[in-house]
Amino acid sequence: MELLSSAPHALSIAADALRKGLLVAIPTETVYGLAADAFNTMALARVFEAKRRPHFDPLIIHISALSMLDRILDRDSLGAGGQDRLARLATAFWPGPLTLILPKLPRVPDLATSGLPSVAVRWPAHPVPQALIASCGPLAAPSANPFGYLSPTRASHVAEQLGERVDYIVDGGPCEFGVESTVLDITGETPCILRPGGLPRQAIEDCVGPVSLLDRSVAHPTAPGQLKSHYAPHAPLSLFERGQLDPSLARPGDVLVFFSRADAERAMAGCSLPMTGSIRVLSEQGDQKEAARSLFDLLHELDSASVRSILAEKLPSGGLGDAVNDRLSKARSQNRI
Ligand code: TXA
Ligand code: MG
Repeated sequence: MELLSSAPHALSIAADALRKGLLVAIPTETVYGLAADAFNTMALARVFEAKRRPHFDPLIIHISALSMLDRILDRDSLGAGGQDRLARLATAFWPGPLTLILPKLPRVPDLATSGLPSVAVRWPAHPVPQALIASCGPLAAPSANPFGYLSPTRASHVAEQLGERVDYIVDGGPCEFGVESTVLDITGETPCILRPGGLPRQAIEDCVGPVSLLDRSVAHPTAPGQLKSHYAPHAPLSLFERGQLDPSLARPGDVLVFFSRADAERAMAGCSLPMTGSIRVLSEQGDQKEAARSLFDLLHELDSASVRSILAEKLPSGGLGDAVNDRLSKARSQNRI
């Protein structure tokens, strides 16, 4: 594995590698992705192998221009309503942290879509994938982590987790969002959020009207991002509703994670026994965007520091709080599969 900068000469090395069917980990505004040529089935097979990802988990295809949809999207199957929603969503939110599930053309490899009739498509806002896609064509890129583990938000996370299983890593610094894209299925009558993420539900509803949210307690998962357990650290994590995390529960070696300093202080004030664990906050001032950016970073750090267990309290719901609470609930140890 070779680490590359995001300077133009380094990106031309990355682009050559992608054209040859090699794997290149790339920064995006959400998390780092493990990129391969979306139309090269050998390269796609290597993505699944490197991630130890089951073949029933489809990949996101990344584009850098709407015209690239012509190679991917079956417009007729989308229908007039779907095409209207696609146009509105693409205008409002692309490039950005929104992945759309769309009907696919037969030429999109089944390996990319796990044999589904639909395909996940995203136009990332980050300049590195934009330059690489403009030069190599659409890139399939799942998050660059071993299947089921925390998503990487820094090049060093990818190097630690995938190491020699990737050919190159482009270092673009820490990710702006730190949480994956929102996955929205627009193949049906009512759009459905399959995975809350960097684009809040409210912003989508302001654009295309009411959307539903996949209910994991009743839905049969069609994709692992919908599984109850995913994005999990090695340390056991327990999740508490707001106001319910009592610091006196902590034992030596435990770390308590609160949304804001005010939340941590409120909890400490109600604590009857001396505290033995340590406290971390996702955002000092209680800013949701900062909390989302800190989440995977902090969990990676706690995992490498071998903490005994993590006790975390949920964020207020709404906005990016929904995406962070979704990741925290999938990271819970009682959900391990
Ligand atoms: O922010 C992101 O979305 C990052 C960056 C790299 O773009 N990518 C990412 O990819 O998170 P991945 O593979 O870790 O998550 C993609 C999610 C998975 O939950 C997958 O199952 C779902 O999208 N997905 C992909 N194709 C699908 C389809 N046709 N139908 C339903 N879900 C699909
Ligand atoms: Mg992932």
